[in-house]
Amino acid sequence: MLALKAHEMGVPVAIYSEKREDPAAQVTSLWHQGSAKDEKALKEFIASCSVVTFESEFMDAALLEKIAAATKVEIYPRPREMALIQDRLTQKELLKKFRLPTAPFIAVSTEYEARRAWHALGKKVVFKKRRFGYDGYGTFVVKNEKDLEAFLPQVEKDAHGFIAEAFVPFKREVAVMVARGRDGSTLHLPFVETYQENSRCLWVKGPLRATPTFKRLGRALEKLLEKADYVGIMGVELFDTGRELVINELAPRVHNSGHYSLDALSMDQFTLHIRAVLGLELRQPIVLRPGFAMMNLLGTTDEAPKWQLSGDVKLHWYGKNENRPGRKMGHINALATSPEKALSLVKKRRADFRV
Ligand SMILES: Nc1ncnc2c1ncn2[C@@H]1O[C@H](COP(=O)(O)OP(=O)(O)O)[C@@H](O)[C@H]1O
Ligand SMILES: [Mg+2]
Repeated sequence: MLALKAHEMGVPVAIYSEKREDPAAQVTSLWHQGSAKDEKALKEFIASCSVVTFESEFMDAALLEKIAAATKVEIYPRPREMALIQDRLTQKELLKKFRLPTAPFIAVSTEYEARRAWHALGKKVVFKKRRFGYDGYGTFVVKNEKDLEAFLPQVEKDAHGFIAEAFVPFKREVAVMVARGRDGSTLHLPFVETYQENSRCLWVKGPLRATPTFKRLGRALEKLLEKADYVGIMGVELFDTGRELVINELAPRVHNSGHYSLDALSMDQFTLHIRAVLGLELRQPIVLRPGFAMMNLLGTTDEAPKWQLSGDVKLHWYGKNENRPGRKMGHINALATSPEKALSLVKKRRADFRV
């Protein structure tokens, strides 16, 4: 989607990925085959670009830093910031350092530490892999002794360790996209409600009314980007307990909770990110309709997907080469006179997809 939006802007995009079938490889002619671990090939590719960005934060930040220094090519988000955020522990420490609200946490790397943390955090804990967790792969909710015993054998198997985080009894989950350009200008998109099933995003609806609490937090997040000298867009997931907003996690990239923006805003998250990393001016997008919703098309089988497309929702298909249960294969967006109406429309249209 970044490549498609860059193309619309007249910006030639070269893609570096492992397989010809990769979604981004399908939409650009400048495709380079290579592994993210292959220093020589990656360096050669980066040296051929004027600016580099990512659709995933799971990169070797130290290697990127070395290549950036050698090639003098601009890389955004900068490898240093990416390193801070790709590790759940340093990410939580960053939030704490800038006094942003987040659930209490403890780093754990042994069974003994995990057991102690579980007691210290009130015996309702979510253990999260420090590295490479996404879509619920890497989070373990531990609410009783039985869950704890089942989880403990995992701890020492992961070379990067875990964090234990206090369980937050939230009323709903919300999210917001925050952006900062190379010129230092910042903005945030509307707050939206997100719904996760088995720790995986199923739908998003919005916009949520911009209350003083949301506005304050939106500004505080913009400040965080400023202080961290972050360039690009960032996805922020939050818990709403009914009394307060607590930050769950940061994603240093375009984000699933921002996919609604492709149809609901005057400028989408992909275009904003590209503008930010190119050093172009960022302007606050306008919300086009009173309500919007996004429904993820999560795989349920490994058979070939089939669907019927109606005219009242917009499909964004990713072109992933394999359908798999739980895999995000695409999403549908709808606009309506209220967030609830948009949500019921995408829920209804989900049935037209055999994914
Ligand atoms: N501390 C917590 N308290 C309650 N629920 C949580 C907590 N942390 C995570 N969850 C639930 O698990 C989901 C996935 O966790 P998250 O930290 O966002 O990891 P991922 O990287 O897989 O998205 C969240 O969206 C939320 O529904
Ligand atoms: Mg998450």
